[in-house]
Amino acid sequence: MLPPELRFHVRCDWITVIDTQKKRLGFGALALVLVALAAILSWPSPAPRSLDNGLARTPPMGWNSWNQVRCYDLTEQVVRDAADALASTGMRDAGYHYVVVDDCWQASARGGDGSLLSDPTRFPSGMAALAAYVHSRGLLFGIYAVPGSATCAMANDAYPARGIGSLGHERQDAQTFAAWGVDYLKYDWCNADTNDGLEREPAFAKMRDELASVGRPIVYAISEYGVSEPWTWARPVANLWRTTFDLVPEWTSVASVIDEQAAVADYTGSPGGWNDPDMLQVGNGTLTDDENRAHFSMWAVLNAPLFAGTDPAKLSDTSKATLLNEEVIAVDQDFAVAQGHRLSTSGSAQVWGKQLSDGGSAVVLLNMGDAAAQISASVPGNWRVRDLWQHADIGTSDGTLSANVPSHGVVMLRLTP
Ligand code: GLA
Repeated sequence: MLPPELRFHVRCDWITVIDTQKKRLGFGALALVLVALAAILSWPSPAPRSLDNGLARTPPMGWNSWNQVRCYDLTEQVVRDAADALASTGMRDAGYHYVVVDDCWQASARGGDGSLLSDPTRFPSGMAALAAYVHSRGLLFGIYAVPGSATCAMANDAYPARGIGSLGHERQDAQTFAAWGVDYLKYDWCNADTNDGLEREPAFAKMRDELASVGRPIVYAISEYGVSEPWTWARPVANLWRTTFDLVPEWTSVASVIDEQAAVADYTGSPGGWNDPDMLQVGNGTLTDDENRAHFSMWAVLNAPLFAGTDPAKLSDTSKATLLNEEVIAVDQDFAVAQGHRLSTSGSAQVWGKQLSDGGSAVVLLNMGDAAAQISASVPGNWRVRDLWQHADIGTSDGTLSANVPSHGVVMLRLTP
């Protein structure tokens, strides 16, 4: 009989959890977690059909302005600079394709014909020109809107505006976005229930239908912070749906969002429809290099959308090496049968795993604790083992994977049959 916290994993036939045990060795917290990974290729509960717009067949990647500049520092120059840097740093070629302008791009009111306008001071060239610039750099262009009457920044950042929500203007706004050359829409709830009496699913579906009628492929990202469990209903509505409130750049936030993903992972993402644990904070705030690597590894094993939110022109060497770790990105972009699941927890040691489309697996040994810990996983069968942060083949598994994992850090392994 499996321990209760592991029982649901018997639904993932490719993974058989055989045992967990904790062991104290020497100094500090040293946890031994035994997990067996068995490659039995089946997933018993096929995911419901995704939004049929042919987009986001792998988790979308890009840059979004919000985590970098938030509201008032957002200008068209910031966006152009980000596009240039995505191209020059190699991020574009690594898959970061969407340049998304988040909240606060809007003028304080709609134009005389009811159309949305960009802020004339901070976006003097206008959105069509900005989209064209982004496209000229070989990138795609995204924008932010809301289903109700007010954007989140109007409440949270005292952004002075009126009437810039899409309520009552859904068709017009979808047409405006298409005319500007928008390729990605982030549609953010922002209390449209209490402000405007809207219901989530029909409000989000309305914009989905308007986008479908404008004759331009536009990835549709919805955000209601996981409140109504969108993983249970949003698959036919959107290409991605936020599963949590905003991620902030400190470890406690990253750790709590990771813990929340364990339950959501059962409603696995799949091509065209992805759980979104929010945009990356890699390179921001108080996150250490180990914490950044843990954050990025976990987003990858979860098949999360990867939106950098730091200045791509000013990346530290380690942030650059993190965001540009192509072996980890490859795990994020690989969907075989399910997004990654938490296989076991023992104290602050966690083991997460995901089957890969080559028949192998990605395994993340995650140490949530405040001291380094030995974390081990038992792996039946013969596997070649590669460390995705050392970029090194580390041998063949003899039944057990074991590594000393830094505090708030990971060891991320790729097992190949
Ligand atoms: C909400 C969203 C954030 C960002 C801001 C903009 O907080 O969750 O991602 O879009 O609104 O105001």
